[in-house]
Amino acid sequence: MKIPLVDLSIQHREIEAEVREGFDRLMETGEFVLGPAVADFERQYAAYCGVDHCIGVANGTDALELGLRALGVGPEAEVILPANTFVASALAVVRAGARPVLVDCAESGTGMDFAGVAERVGARTRALMVVDLFGELAELEEFESFAADSDVVVIEDAAQAQGARRKGRSAGGFGEVAGTSFYPGKNLGAYGDAGAVTTRSDEIADRVRRLRNYGSEVKYEHPEQGFNSRLDALQAVVLTAKLRRLSAWNSERRMAAGLYDEMLAPLEGVALPPGHRGEAHVWHIYAVRVADRDRVLAALHAAGIGAGIHYPNPIHRLGAFRFLGHGPGDFPRAEKAADEMISLPIFPGIRPEQQERVVAVLAAAVTN
Ligand SMILES: Cc1ncc(COP(=O)(O)O)c(C=O)c1O
Repeated sequence: MKIPLVDLSIQHREIEAEVREGFDRLMETGEFVLGPAVADFERQYAAYCGVDHCIGVANGTDALELGLRALGVGPEAEVILPANTFVASALAVVRAGARPVLVDCAESGTGMDFAGVAERVGARTRALMVVDLFGELAELEEFESFAADSDVVVIEDAAQAQGARRKGRSAGGFGEVAGTSFYPGKNLGAYGDAGAVTTRSDEIADRVRRLRNYGSEVKYEHPEQGFNSRLDALQAVVLTAKLRRLSAWNSERRMAAGLYDEMLAPLEGVALPPGHRGEAHVWHIYAVRVADRDRVLAALHAAGIGAGIHYPNPIHRLGAFRFLGHGPGDFPRAEKAADEMISLPIFPGIRPEQQERVVAVLAAAVTN
């Protein structure tokens, strides 16, 4: 039995008719760039996140970059972010012209260490980029109040957490602005690259709308330099169909995570993912920790199980960020996580017998 890390075909079957119908409509109208399909999705996604504005862009990296630019973060500025995140969070900072300042994980969990953030705030700090890693809403309320006291802004990297909620607030609704990715494997995934900026601020929204469209609001008027980074209308059709099902799909992910928790708890040598078990977690990734990770991972792969590593290297160990001047041991918790984590298959529609098989292979590998 082969078990992929993510099986998108199950979702596709559910929305296929709707997507085809939407594509047909677009072929007839020819409104491929921006237009009503994009505007409809933007309205619905803003409402889903509980914010006033959603601006669809080409991908999640652009969403974060344009969000930072709209906040006025650029050269001379520093942005604090976790060492343990996908490279794109840090790339967005350098692409906006600012300098990433990395912080280790908290002692418990995969979130950013609060004390580490406080230590690194300096005269040049303009923003905290808080990442909802693996689908778990970060402690954003705490970071928001800390930022308000320190005169910096919060940008939420909500790429992995569409639909996560806490105390009536949703992923994409924290900070001054949030960026999200609709990369196909995300909880809300397109059929290619796509992303969005969400915000309550009219001013930030206007700025991002211009930036994604060559710096223009009125055709052929370009008061500033912008980009071509728009959400494709075809992707908007897919995302609209999926958005209707997202909460149900996230519940399925939560149930699958619960079943893994139950089956893995008695296993010695496997540490369960830390963190919330309620609505604040939408289980984009279910990452356990084991010693001797590479051997265990190889055993899973040999058995046809598509386990992964998120991420094999924290930002400071990547060649692209060597210029920050960090060395081994600078972020010991992030490094340990990178060396021990294994992501197990999880997706809406994963069957209990598939999970049982994953657990059986994992159990055999850790007891060997
Ligand atoms: C945490 C995080 N931030 C940013 C991104 C960037 O998104 P994209 O791949 O759509 O550019 C991703 C996903 O790839 C991500 O997981």
